[in-house]
Amino acid sequence: MNNLLPGQAEAIAEVNALRERISRADIDTMSLLLGQAYTHHAWTDKPVSNASLKDAYDLAKMGPTGMNIQPMRLVFLRGEAKETRLVPHMLDSNQTKTSAAPVTAILANDHAFYKNMSRTFPIIPNASEMFSNHKSFAYENAERNGTLQAAYFLLALRSVGLDVAPMSGFDSDKVNKEFFEGTEVTVNFIMNIGYGDSNAVYPRLPRLDFEEISQLF
Ligand SMILES: Cc1cc2nc3c(=O)[nH]c(=O)nc-3n(C[C@H](O)[C@H](O)[C@H](O)COP(=O)(O)O)c2cc1C
Repeated sequence: MNNLLPGQAEAIAEVNALRERISRADIDTMSLLLGQAYTHHAWTDKPVSNASLKDAYDLAKMGPTGMNIQPMRLVFLRGEAKETRLVPHMLDSNQTKTSAAPVTAILANDHAFYKNMSRTFPIIPNASEMFSNHKSFAYENAERNGTLQAAYFLLALRSVGLDVAPMSGFDSDKVNKEFFEGTEVTVNFIMNIGYGDSNAVYPRLPRLDFEEISQLF
């Protein structure tokens, strides 16, 4: 093939090598990520290493975002910092489990994500101006892509053997003031992370069927 972009030959080789090794995830991997994974409400004492969190992020960051904007930002909290700065801003019903989780992550979105675009999207010089000059467009894209990245991160945490519990029951104004004042970062949701106590999972709630939610043309 002629006129390849810089790095494109390596990308093609990587895709082809992967296809030769594997064509789909095995059933156990699918179960670990989604099929038999549950939201956890209580936690064992087993600690979570920073290395596991980094491993999960290093996988999640490979998930696609529009124009590679990568707006997700993470704050990880343990111990005293979590107890004093975050737990008081959680809904009452979320406080005990948030205190008990070995780590709690604030998943946030940086609405000034475009400041990185000369590095993350060099293909179009000045691409950042598409967003810096249109704040509502920037907001919409930060929310959409930050939520996608948060979902990639949730699944990546499960892939390294961790359990998770996402939560939207908290006072977002207070969390934003405590952690992000003076920035363009705002909280998306909060997630407990650890090795779950399986005795406390809830029964599975009904999921909508493919036939109910899809239109096939
Ligand atoms: C964005 C989001 C917000 C949630 N907020 C809360 C919450 O504030 N408190 C809570 O106990 N569970 C919360 N949940 C947990 C959901 O109710 C739970 O994941 C869902 O019922 C599926 O449970 P399962 O994974 O065990 O099947 C939240 C989940 C998501 C994805």
